Amino acid sequence: MSSILVLNGPNLGRLGSREPDVYGDQDLPALEALLNAEAPEGTTIDLRQTDDEGTLIGWLHEAVDSGAPVILNPAAFTHYSYGLRDAASLVTKAGGTLIEVHISNPHAREEFRHNSVISGVATGVIAGFGFESYVLALSAILRVRA
Ligand code: DQA
Repeated sequence: MSSILVLNGPNLGRLGSREPDVYGDQDLPALEALLNAEAPEGTTIDLRQTDDEGTLIGWLHEAVDSGAPVILNPAAFTHYSYGLRDAASLVTKAGGTLIEVHISNPHAREEFRHNSVISGVATGVIAGFGFESYVLALSAILRVRA
């Protein structure tokens, strides 16, 4: 049984009611159900959310130690957290896979969202497809791993 970490940063616990025009009207449990439906047998989706930077960094350290692939929506931390970047870098430097995902397309939004401090150390980036961004990331992990 292999596990894929799906890590979500600040304010993503409010999906469903947060800016539905930008993020849609579905919540995190709906995302979890979608990913579980897409995951092949023997693959566990371990979906987590936190508003806390240190907790997110701790989960990335866990991925370094376990070798679990990571789908990461760093949310607002994307744009300024060097601590999170360094932790993401630990994952990929250790040979792990880390895909940065975004529900919206940050490049089509406010200027401060155009820069990601995570992208440069991620394996790849998928943005702008709603919850399908996560499904595409899952598919990429499964294909790269196969
Ligand atoms: C986001 C985009 C970020 O700019 C924003 O701060 C989020 C969500 C997205 O999934 O589109 O919280 O990461």
